[in-house]
Amino acid sequence: MGQTAKLHYEGKEIELPLIEGSEGEKAVDCGQLRSATGLITMDPGYGNTGSCESQITFINGEEGILRYRGYPIEELAENSSFLEVSYLLVNGDLPSPEELATFTESIRTHTMVHEDFKRLFSALPKDAHPMAACAAAVGALATFYPDSLDPRDSRQVEISVHRLLAKLPTIASYAYKHSMGQPFMYPDNKLSYVGNFLQMMFATPCEKYEVDPVIQKAIDMLLILHADHEQNCSTSTVRLVGSSMVNLFGAISAGISALWGPRHGGANQEVIEMLESIAEEGLTAKQFVERAKSNDDTSRLMGFGHRVYKNYDPRARILRKSAHEVLSSLGVQSKLLEIAMELEELALEDDYFGERKLYPNVDFYSGVIYKAMGTPVNMFTVMFALGRLPGWIAQWLEMHEDKQRIGRPRQIYTGSAERHYVPLSNR
Ligand code: SDX
Repeated sequence: MGQTAKLHYEGKEIELPLIEGSEGEKAVDCGQLRSATGLITMDPGYGNTGSCESQITFINGEEGILRYRGYPIEELAENSSFLEVSYLLVNGDLPSPEELATFTESIRTHTMVHEDFKRLFSALPKDAHPMAACAAAVGALATFYPDSLDPRDSRQVEISVHRLLAKLPTIASYAYKHSMGQPFMYPDNKLSYVGNFLQMMFATPCEKYEVDPVIQKAIDMLLILHADHEQNCSTSTVRLVGSSMVNLFGAISAGISALWGPRHGGANQEVIEMLESIAEEGLTAKQFVERAKSNDDTSRLMGFGHRVYKNYDPRARILRKSAHEVLSSLGVQSKLLEIAMELEELALEDDYFGERKLYPNVDFYSGVIYKAMGTPVNMFTVMFALGRLPGWIAQWLEMHEDKQRIGRPRQIYTGSAERHYVPLSNR
């Protein structure tokens, strides 16, 4: 037996094997803990608990390192494309030119959704949040494609993966167009993945739409930065839901709902609303930072803090630089960016944030860029979901490849001891 950890309990000693990862991380394998001692572990929020071994994404939270399949996020953001990164995450290696061309062509030619999706969207209220609409629509894909739902059939899985990657931009744009009361735009297969998304979002049948290359490149890079992040809340949701052997569409729909939460992907919308409220109320950055230290969820400094990063989120560092480049390229003066920079400067000098190792995360700057490009605020988290989709898919595939058992945590019961039913007349 390799390295072990010893547990002494009630006069007994149990040795638990250690698992060591390729980057030197170590875990105690508790697989035999309950059978050997009757004990279970307790770790609400899973801050100290690993759910799986994975070869997809590596994060070093103390040093602010993020790599997809070993490639540093900085190099991928600089040199790659979102579809190439999607291929990398799903298949494990960078594609050859032929592999990328085949993958791109397959995605490009499956972007349309069934015409009945228009009726599905028309049944939703005009002010439906696009994340609710996308979660519903992705779940509904399972009703349109009953032929490709078996997670144990590799061909059906491949078809579902390509359908999802191809159709989520179309679904996302339908959610937006429905909220605007504008006609849905069909995909244009002559355009790039992001260019097609932009035209479905912002084109109308009334005039020709030109894709802005600056915006196209910025969004492609934003999607790369959001593509995976190991076992975050929504990815863990996709794995747990997927472990019941439900189809891919059902698992991804659950992931979209988990991402929507303001503590998770919903934070990018919250950041902009926070910056706008500071501007509208005429608050100084100092006043708001003091309010954020009051330790209640409602006035937190949104876009700051992270369960894993106890250093600057490398994605935030890239986005901070990109925000200036995109805004100057678009000729946009952003009061919100100025406020964000002031907040960051104050927070990074403040002991409250330093002691708690609270740094800007991926959501702190992304919204400023999305807003400057004309993306509606309630679509920000949808943009996060578009980026995270290949990561969710890769993690779901890995969970099935590892033949993981159904996820079923235990608990410690703290409720009433046994008691007996009292008839209503006697209560
Ligand atoms: C994402 O997991 C991932 O990888 C997620 C993600 C991904 O790519 O998938 O990176 C994407 O979700 C980024 C995080 C986006 N969320 C936000 O920006 C919301 C604001 N931040 C938080 O609410 C919070 O920091 C979390 C949810 C991100 C992390 O929460 P933790 O690890 O459970 O930390 P905590 O809530 O226990 O806070 C620890 C302390 C508390 O103070 P004390 O009780 O010690 O006095 O720090 C304080 C908190 O009150 N705190 C904040 C704060 N975040 C934490 N105080 C003010 N402003 C904040 N933003």
